[in-house]
Amino acid sequence: MNTTGALETSAAQSRSAELEKLILKEPGQFRVLTGDRPTGRLHLGHYFGTLHNRVRLQDLGVETFVLIADYQVLTDRDVAENLTEHVEELILDYLAIGIDPERSTIFAHSAVPALNQLLLPFMSLVSVAELNRNPTVKDEIAHSRQAAVSGLMFTYPVHQAADILFCKAGLVPVGQDQLPHLEITRTIARRFNDRYGKHTSVFPQPEALLSAAPLLLGTDGTKMSKSRNNAIALSIDADETARLIRGAKTDAERRITYDPAARPEVSSLVLLSALCEDSDPHTVAEEVGVGGGGALKRRVTESVNEYLAPIRARRQAYARDRRLIREVLRAGNERANAIADATLKEVRAVMNADY
Ligand code: TRP
Repeated sequence: MNTTGALETSAAQSRSAELEKLILKEPGQFRVLTGDRPTGRLHLGHYFGTLHNRVRLQDLGVETFVLIADYQVLTDRDVAENLTEHVEELILDYLAIGIDPERSTIFAHSAVPALNQLLLPFMSLVSVAELNRNPTVKDEIAHSRQAAVSGLMFTYPVHQAADILFCKAGLVPVGQDQLPHLEITRTIARRFNDRYGKHTSVFPQPEALLSAAPLLLGTDGTKMSKSRNNAIALSIDADETARLIRGAKTDAERRITYDPAARPEVSSLVLLSALCEDSDPHTVAEEVGVGGGGALKRRVTESVNEYLAPIRARRQAYARDRRLIREVLRAGNERANAIADATLKEVRAVMNADY
């Protein structure tokens, strides 16, 4: 990361700590928007990285919008071919981990026309050069397996601004990698208000809420990710979990310690166990002691399976009722549409396009 990036991250971190205090004091003051691409089943990396935090915010009483970013997977052939299934599996994961559709709005952005219409005026507020320099877009382009980069990909940051601003969300829990996207959203909100707002401010400038998300490694010792085939999905069963953990990379040292820099693979397993047990990784390491990789893996398997048991049971129960999944999405889309329609009306009015 360059120096500017590092500075931005540390500024965002200290602001996030302040925001956390404000949230605890007055959760009802905040509206949060978060989202995922429907690329497949969610895994433990997602769970301890962001999902857990979402449920926490929801349970604190923060109004939460959960976006299924289906337009961001159109360029991924494998996903696009099974889009409906991916969307339904994602909703199942959400319900299983405790996102409550009575309190949180789960919706797909493709089903909200007024949200998408915001893209056009927003596109007028950014330059091609700005889109070209966006590090997240650059990264996505570098990782995309497409021969040619589609125009849609360049619109992602601006479309994300529409995702966030349609409901005037003030807080966006994100990982560090999404900070540049959020910066464009803030720029667009500011420029829109400057150009059209006159004496009113139509959009808030949303803030990032960085959580101290632990980085979990996959079974091969690299970042846990579905595309690397090293992930432990929330939805697999206890035996499959045991099998995957048994195959996880460790090292030859018998004494288990928690030392992420020197022993990344072992430490990630220790951390995973500690997260599931809500305990300290150093304590877990000490308890496993000189048992080596085998004992560590037994401990991790047990704690993961115990932690996920209720989540998996709920998931199975919901999976038997596909109508319910459809209904959750229908209701969420309806609510998102009502809000987007009202925002677009306001936007058109300030743009002198109220005809
Ligand atoms: N780009 C995000 C991801 O890859 C998904 C996303 C789309 C999103 N729109 C958003 C996240 C708006 C937060 C806010 O996971």
